[in-house]
Amino acid sequence: MTDPAANPSITRQESITAADLGGRAAVITGGAKGIGLATASRLARLGMKIFLADTDAGALERARDTLVPLLAGPEDLRVEVVDVSSLEEMRRLKDLAYGAFGEVALLMNNAGVESSGMKPWEGPEAWDRILDVNLWGVVHGVQAFTEAMIPQEAPSAIVNVGSKEGITTPPGNAAYSVSKAGVKVLTEQLAHELRQIDGCRVSAHLLVPGFTFTSLTARGRVEKPEGAWTPDQVAEFMLESMGRGDFYILCPDNDVSREMDERRIRWAAEDLIQNRPALSRWHPSYEESFASYMEDTKKP
Ligand SMILES: NC(=O)c1ccc[n+]([C@@H]2O[C@H](COP(=O)([O-])OP(=O)(O)OC[C@H]3O[C@@H](n4cnc5c(N)ncnc54)[C@H](O)[C@@H]3O)[C@@H](O)[C@H]2O)c1
Repeated sequence: MTDPAANPSITRQESITAADLGGRAAVITGGAKGIGLATASRLARLGMKIFLADTDAGALERARDTLVPLLAGPEDLRVEVVDVSSLEEMRRLKDLAYGAFGEVALLMNNAGVESSGMKPWEGPEAWDRILDVNLWGVVHGVQAFTEAMIPQEAPSAIVNVGSKEGITTPPGNAAYSVSKAGVKVLTEQLAHELRQIDGCRVSAHLLVPGFTFTSLTARGRVEKPEGAWTPDQVAEFMLESMGRGDFYILCPDNDVSREMDERRIRWAAEDLIQNRPALSRWHPSYEESFASYMEDTKKP
């Protein structure tokens, strides 16, 4: 038996709970809105000190108004305009965070931008921007913070925000899928390397939100669509999952259950094993077999 869920004597990775986080500091990139801000709000209620980094100065100020009432005092919040696509900026953020709070218990590399329907050969500038923020932003976060976090004695964590689009890679959003597939691989490598280090208590986690209603997905809507989760649901699920020591934090939403995700992921992996055409889930010859494969899955 190899599943730690079924055999608790097999170690997953160190869990990190609310009790480990209270009174310590979290740094969240892209933290001025959406999933980042919702996570900051939950962490503030746990008694954490918060450092938000974002390119949107106005949203950072609005986030300050949201967070200060949740914190022990205004000195427990720092906000800074930082562009994650610059390694220099991320190193500056690390110096500011360690200067302000002495250590970082939780780094959340969350900043992200969406792409709209470019084909692989289209939009070279947009490709650069998406990869610079979504992939290089996370690489920079890992490069700027990890060595400072490794010697910390208390359990600490790095959460990188991926996407189902980086796992099952649906057609239509090639640059975004490439960026998020890169985040998945980077985070897996990071988790492995951290657990090779004797005494290291830093764990890495891949957060994979489902459809979540934020400015990234709103597309002009003001009401949350039925199928979407709120950012707060994602933050709650993430903290529960970290408390169990989960590496993969695969969020469902109101349309897609865990079981549906598991089948879609298995189907995508089997394209290679069965030598099917790429992205066979969207290939007309496989339409019926994919539909029957999904037929009896439990909906949320
Ligand atoms: N909303 C979803 O359905 C969904 C699903 C899967 C993954 N995600 C991922 O979740 C993360 C958070 O997204 P969200 O949905 O909360 O969107 P959001 O737009 O509400 O938040 C993203 C934040 O990142 C900031 N940002 C953008 N570029 C930046 C840069 N270069 N440097 C620093 N900050 C920058 C934005 O200003 C914004 O505040 C992203 O990585 C996104 O790809 C979201």
